[in-house]
Amino acid sequence: MTDQYAVIGNPIGHTKSPLIHGLFAEATQQAMSYVAIEGPLAPDDGFADVVREFAANGGKGMNVTAPFKLKAFALADARSERAALAGAANALKFEHGRIIAENFDGIGLLRDIEVNLGVPLAGKRVLLLGAGGAARGALLPFLAANPAELVIANRDAAKARALVAQAGARAAAVRACGYGDLHAMGRFDLVVNATSASLTGDLPPVPPGVFNPAGIAYELAYGKRLTPFLRLARNAGVHRIADGVGMLVEQAAEAFDWWRGVRPETASVIDRLTVPLD
Ligand code: ATR
Repeated sequence: MTDQYAVIGNPIGHTKSPLIHGLFAEATQQAMSYVAIEGPLAPDDGFADVVREFAANGGKGMNVTAPFKLKAFALADARSERAALAGAANALKFEHGRIIAENFDGIGLLRDIEVNLGVPLAGKRVLLLGAGGAARGALLPFLAANPAELVIANRDAAKARALVAQAGARAAAVRACGYGDLHAMGRFDLVVNATSASLTGDLPPVPPGVFNPAGIAYELAYGKRLTPFLRLARNAGVHRIADGVGMLVEQAAEAFDWWRGVRPETASVIDRLTVPLD
């Protein structure tokens, strides 16, 4: 039987993952299927049943998207260090009756910035907006890239401080703050919007003075064209703005490699999925 993979989320209609993994499979000549599954939203543990049934019927792996990343993490029998540090899973592997959890979101984001956009974080001033699941996934890969400074700003500043405290000894160059504190912090080479504000068309209250026009503004959401955050950055004179399409494809490539043992080429897939920002 063909090896089976899936992405599970709710809603799931908008997902690009079957297209991305289909292109990867074709390019690397892997015989596999990849479908989208709408997971159950009921508060009982229907999610675990759906995952276990997929695995029992020959499923080899799954991507996990909102709102199931925490449930998938909790369900696993084993977890990678980066999944444990993010507290969430975005990929599962089913092996010898066990469920193994991984999280490639942060590494996908870092790869898109450093490799695809050509901006190594070493020595840079980096501002991460938000302290939820998305920011949590980005924190450790960002720190591993040795920025000169990493500031995490959140509306609820205590949540940002808790995140920094969790990063522990690695957090020497990390600071947490509220948006109001950003006025006194100068310009940043990279500003990443890891809040969920763009999903509702909102703008995090970030002062335009944080943008270095020679730097980059990165929006984690994708396919939303010029979000209020990217518009603010553009109006502040930033030429290089990006949405999360590259991150999406890079995390998919990491998962594909983990499952199949071959890392697909990503540039052509990113090109195919890229929607002009304006
Ligand atoms: P995700 O998994 O997308 O990170 P989450 O864990 O629910 O989702 O976290 C949402 C993040 O977006 C939080 O950092 C939240 O800020 P608060 O913790 O202060 O609530 C942030 N957020 C959501 N809407 C926002 C808005 N309009 N302006 C600024 N931050 C916002």
